[in-house]
Amino acid sequence: MPALPLDPGHSYLLRGPEEQGRFGAALAAALPPASVLFLEGELGAGKTTLTAGLIGALGFAGAVTSPTYALMHVYPTPAGRVLHVDAYRVRDVQELYELDLEDLIEGSRLSVVEWGEGLYADYPAAPILRLEHLADEENGRRVTRVR
Ligand SMILES: Nc1ncnc2c1ncn2[C@@H]1O[C@H](COP(=O)(O)OP(=O)(O)OP(=O)(O)O)[C@@H](O)[C@H]1O
Ligand SMILES: [Mg+2]
Repeated sequence: MPALPLDPGHSYLLRGPEEQGRFGAALAAALPPASVLFLEGELGAGKTTLTAGLIGALGFAGAVTSPTYALMHVYPTPAGRVLHVDAYRVRDVQELYELDLEDLIEGSRLSVVEWGEGLYADYPAAPILRLEHLADEENGRRVTRVR
């Protein structure tokens, strides 16, 4: 399995949504079955765009949309099921565990979790990526691997 294309503590600039999606796609091969990827970043930082590139790289051809209201979207891919979780509205991680999140993750090819700080300690091997707007221009984002 190749390493992630970004080391902990390092950043890239991603110029435009296409690059954002391509960066997501480049993560796919480095994330093993049943793994978790955490995404941080304010509204509009590009979390869903990155996730769409990643899920597309696993062979899902349809649209990937924000799971903010649904809490979780499930994508069947040829590589296996992918979960996209948005925990923004979750006050207590216990709510997620009551949905059998652990088993869902275990049975999935990959789980991408936005706003998942409450799960960081329980999934210590999961990489964390932080996405930020560039201060001086609209057409770009910085991605930093926090862990
Ligand atoms: N690297 C980038 N450069 C410029 N624009 C980008 C980049 N990545 C994404 N965008 C654009 O930013 C907008 C918001 O992206 P996206 O929906 O992926 O953000 P998000 O972090 O998921 O937001 P939310 O928190 O609202 O769900 C979209 O219009 C998208 O095309
Ligand atoms: Mg989103």
